Amino acid sequence: MTYARIFGTGSYLPERVVTNRDLEARIDTTDEWIVSRTGIEARHVAADGEMTSDLALQAARRAMESASVTADDIDLIIVATTTPDMIFPSTACLLQAKLGVKQGAAFDVQAVCTGFMYALSTANLFITSGQHRCALVVGAEVFSRLLDWNDRRTCVLFGDGAGAVVLRRSEEPGILSSNLHADGSLSHILRVDGGISHGQIRGNPFLEMDGQAVYRTAVRVLDESAEEALKQSGYTAAQLDWFVPHQANIRIINSIADKIGLPRERVVTTVARHGNTSAASVPLALDAAVRDHRIKPGHLVMLQGVGGGMTWGTLVLRW
Ligand code: UT7
Repeated sequence: MTYARIFGTGSYLPERVVTNRDLEARIDTTDEWIVSRTGIEARHVAADGEMTSDLALQAARRAMESASVTADDIDLIIVATTTPDMIFPSTACLLQAKLGVKQGAAFDVQAVCTGFMYALSTANLFITSGQHRCALVVGAEVFSRLLDWNDRRTCVLFGDGAGAVVLRRSEEPGILSSNLHADGSLSHILRVDGGISHGQIRGNPFLEMDGQAVYRTAVRVLDESAEEALKQSGYTAAQLDWFVPHQANIRIINSIADKIGLPRERVVTTVARHGNTSAASVPLALDAAVRDHRIKPGHLVMLQGVGGGMTWGTLVLRW
């Protein structure tokens, strides 16, 4: 049987770190509130002029190096992002040019914080169908630019970053199962409804969120999606070596782990240091756990995302 397998991972975080203490000095919040409600202690924020494609480029180079592939090998680039450099061309096309990749397809996927799951699942189908041979799948965001930095309900939650993987065909097991979901009737609970029209911004260019509604939706849908992915893969939660969830809130992460019966020691968390980096969150956490050798060859790993749309999805894979 032919699988798509991850051959390398990479990630990149902008240099500037904004701590909860830094935010305390600027808005009416406290480190204690942010840590107790979310688990977030700090987040990275891109420099002025540092674009999503710049973050993606650094993460992509590291993933390609760890997979031992060059620009001549890549024939598919999918970038999951909510913060493209421009309306068009896609960030994937800009990344293709920066990497010097001359062949294949390049496009963006927009599923907000679930974007990496949508992109990886799509790449899996392209690779296993034989249409493409070597995919670069990236989640990259400069979410800090969608935030109203005077709105304490949202600006403390998010950060910037990028993560990437290289996916190739393999006879050895790789991605075993995946499911993707959306419920567009919930679009109003998490959105940036601003857009460009006739040379002007229409609507609100800043992120708006009904935090409690998003929280309730996440804990309602994620355990079902996890069970679905596990069942389809033929494994149980007890057999998982690692769970790499979306890094939005430690309370959501712990709740899902408890619901599916997974010990917290087998959950990869980076939310304390990264905050919520949207589509970059899962590949950033994955790369951290691969590079510090927690995730080892042969391990059974579950990846999961949830975000605006609402969208959500889960993948189970053999490392
Ligand atoms: O990728 C998916 C994206 N988003 C998520 O997953 C977020 C899901 N939601 C959440 O994580 C939580 O709902 C939040 C962390 C956003 C909020 O936590 P909460 O426990 O639901 O708090 P809340 O919204 O009910 O607010 C409680 C209080 C309010 O004050 P009052 O009205 O009770 O006086 C807020 O005004 O906390 C206040 N508050 C803050 N206080 C200090 C809200 N933000 C802050 C803040 N610092 N930054």
